[in-house]
Amino acid sequence: MKLIVGNWKMNGRRAALAEVEAVAAAADTAGARLWLAPPATLVMAAADSAGDRIAIGGQDCHHAEDGAHTGCISAAQLVDAGARFVILGHSERRANQDESDALISAKANAARAAGLDVIVCVGETEAERDGGQAEAVVGGQLQGSLPSGADGLIVAYEPVWAIGTGRVPAEADVAAMHGFIRARLVARYGPAGGEVIILYGGSVKPDNAATLMAVPEVGGALVGGASLKADSLLAIAAASA
Ligand code: PGA
Repeated sequence: MKLIVGNWKMNGRRAALAEVEAVAAAADTAGARLWLAPPATLVMAAADSAGDRIAIGGQDCHHAEDGAHTGCISAAQLVDAGARFVILGHSERRANQDESDALISAKANAARAAGLDVIVCVGETEAERDGGQAEAVVGGQLQGSLPSGADGLIVAYEPVWAIGTGRVPAEADVAAMHGFIRARLVARYGPAGGEVIILYGGSVKPDNAATLMAVPEVGGALVGGASLKADSLLAIAAASA
């Protein structure tokens, strides 16, 4: 079964909890495992409403457990709110909050120590791909931003130029990059690296999900825009089955 993760980014008010409930209500027959990362303001309420039916997660966390970090949220606080996973190193945070590989790795280790599964995002820009640098960039991100162990780790390959643009890479390019990521994970973690789920993310929609999810080494999807409505997230899950 594929893992389909919705990333709501900075979208959603209380009223959107109805979408969480609709996804949770359909989880048993969805055809995929479903996880949702609403904005931090909704994590606790979403986790309460979802119960054990779907996992709720955060979109970022701080690497410290507590302390003088105004505006930040720790992994332990996410756990306390009912979160079961956290997305780290999303390209929007790498670009807009200047997050470095080393910082993302520190967050990933902190999140694992707190008991969260971690989804570490990697992906090249269009200029990097056009310049033949896609594997070098993704390889560097993997080298620098992963946690020390493979347990509880998920990697999301999200080409920056495919996020929110409606453009997706050719299947052969997805296959090549996922194969490259798998080889790096095995080289680093040994057999445990062979078990790490590798998600594809970037403009996954109900009408392209079946094709993308059939690519070798694609274990599921990280979905932004199309995850905001239960109907479209569930259609992606159904298409991935
Ligand atoms: P998108 O976003 O599905 O809207 O392209 C994906 C992501 O950023 O995780």
